[in-house]
Amino acid sequence: MDMKVNIAGVEWKNPVTVASGTFGSGEEFSDFVDLNRLGAVTTKGVANVPWSGNPTPRVAEVYGGMMNAIGLQNPGIELFCQRDIPYLKQFDTKIIVNVCGHAPEEYLAVVERLADEPIDMMEINISCPNVNAGFLAFGQDAGHVEELTAQIKKIAKQPVIMKLTPNVTDITEIAKAAEAGGADAISLINTLTGMKIDINRRTFALANKTGGVSGPAVHPIAVRMVYQAAQAVNIPIIGMGGIATAEDAIEMILAGASAVSVGTANFHDPAVTLKVIDGIEKYMEKQGFETVKDMVGAVR
Ligand SMILES: Cc1cc2nc3c(=O)[nH]c(=O)nc-3n(C[C@H](O)[C@H](O)[C@H](O)COP(=O)(O)O)c2cc1C
Repeated sequence: MDMKVNIAGVEWKNPVTVASGTFGSGEEFSDFVDLNRLGAVTTKGVANVPWSGNPTPRVAEVYGGMMNAIGLQNPGIELFCQRDIPYLKQFDTKIIVNVCGHAPEEYLAVVERLADEPIDMMEINISCPNVNAGFLAFGQDAGHVEELTAQIKKIAKQPVIMKLTPNVTDITEIAKAAEAGGADAISLINTLTGMKIDINRRTFALANKTGGVSGPAVHPIAVRMVYQAAQAVNIPIIGMGGIATAEDAIEMILAGASAVSVGTANFHDPAVTLKVIDGIEKYMEKQGFETVKDMVGAVR
């Protein structure tokens, strides 16, 4: 039985990575998880310069998950390259760097800076507000997605994963736009926009008013979107959204994901990724799957 997967030419030892922003750059989880066991580590989002993020409070609990409006706080690409990449290079796992920006030039500056760094893939977060389009997220407009993907692909030296937002009417239109722009893979879903009101303080639970909902509550929506995207494109899909168990991950793979990311679940069980990896292996054994690839999209 073989747990290896090939995502856009990059071989992972198993199909499990962590979702950006829920695992730092691995260091804060290394007491709980042997990073050598993960298929890949996906870092938190990094921009061309440091971002301080949104005012607090910026996280809240909701039924079946959480809401966040961190605002992509990050140290900027320079410090990231000096500190986080060398840290991750100590481990035998693939490195996926998640990239954010407010305008195409900001994304391109990060992608260019990463060109000669020893990373394996990059994941482009297009849920960021686009300053040139009235702060609507890049990922909510198919034209912007295709254009940004094409610009990034012109200069990227590593395979490019475009990370889609679920806050759209038709996910297949956006998935196809990423593929048309030349994306090597897509990942989905990012968080779903929500709102929570603190009735005692009679104000919003998050200072930003709205925030992104994640965790088990969003899982069925994520499975549906991964399935729809898998029917629409021929590039590999990394599926995420509410994965908390091996069963959740297997569902995502059967729906069409070639690999999966575990996000919010890391917060209540920092070793959950290892349980997901072991559980997928046991399932493959029980169901007679020789390779992960045989499972991908097996339910149509
Ligand atoms: C606290 C927090 C921070 C996040 N930061 C990022 C980020 O920097 N870049 C990104 O693309 N997604 C970010 N996400 C979205 C997750 O990577 C993931 O797409 C989403 O939470 C759905 O997966 P989950 O339900 O397993 O958490 C963040 C999510 C959370 C909860």
